[in-house]
Amino acid sequence: MNSTQPFTVAIDGPAAAGKGTIGRAVAARFGLAHLDTGLLYRAVGAEVLGGADPVEAARNLEARALENPALRTAAVAQEASKVAVIPEVRAALLDFQRAFARRAGGAVLDGRDICTVICPQAEVKMFVTATPEVRAQRRYDELIARGQDTTYAAVLADVVERDRRDSERSAAPLKPAQGADVLDTSQLGIDAAVAAAIALVKEARV
Ligand code: CDP
Repeated sequence: MNSTQPFTVAIDGPAAAGKGTIGRAVAARFGLAHLDTGLLYRAVGAEVLGGADPVEAARNLEARALENPALRTAAVAQEASKVAVIPEVRAALLDFQRAFARRAGGAVLDGRDICTVICPQAEVKMFVTATPEVRAQRRYDELIARGQDTTYAAVLADVVERDRRDSERSAAPLKPAQGADVLDTSQLGIDAAVAAAIALVKEARV
């Protein structure tokens, strides 16, 4: 691969499927830039919880808003999935994501509509998934490790509710893209899931 050419790894999937961990590991392994696109919607959601208008917040989003650790809470995740149904919010975030996807040197993006809407021409397209129970357990462990006060039942309810909203919306609904490789990580540890994703990227790079 010529390192100045675009090379996009697009990763979609439901809440807490491990897209972020896989995306970061693939980016590090191949020297690609990484964008967790969920953070864009979380940043807009956080602004809305603070009283902002969602469309204005999306249009005025600044890169440093993505670094706020408070974006990782379940309350912000819920609000993110509410603002994510608004077509004008999605439209405001489109150009940034498309430019990131095709940047020189290559990029990994993870989210809900990367393979379907943002970059259907991506050289690698994956749909990473797992059962709701497995995903909820992983997110519960992650939130507890971050010192947040929650229960497994609350996390499972959040995951199921967001999956429903993300899949049923008419603007860029969550679904596996045509031609995407489905990676079901229900029975895979993180190392095995990352190895499977790396194998898919290697196949596409030759
Ligand atoms: O980390 P987790 O999978 O729980 O969520 P996230 O990727 O941070 O995304 C938070 C919310 O943003 C999702 O529930 C979606 O509603 C929305 N989202 C989206 O609509 N499109 C994307 N490309 C990424 C996230």
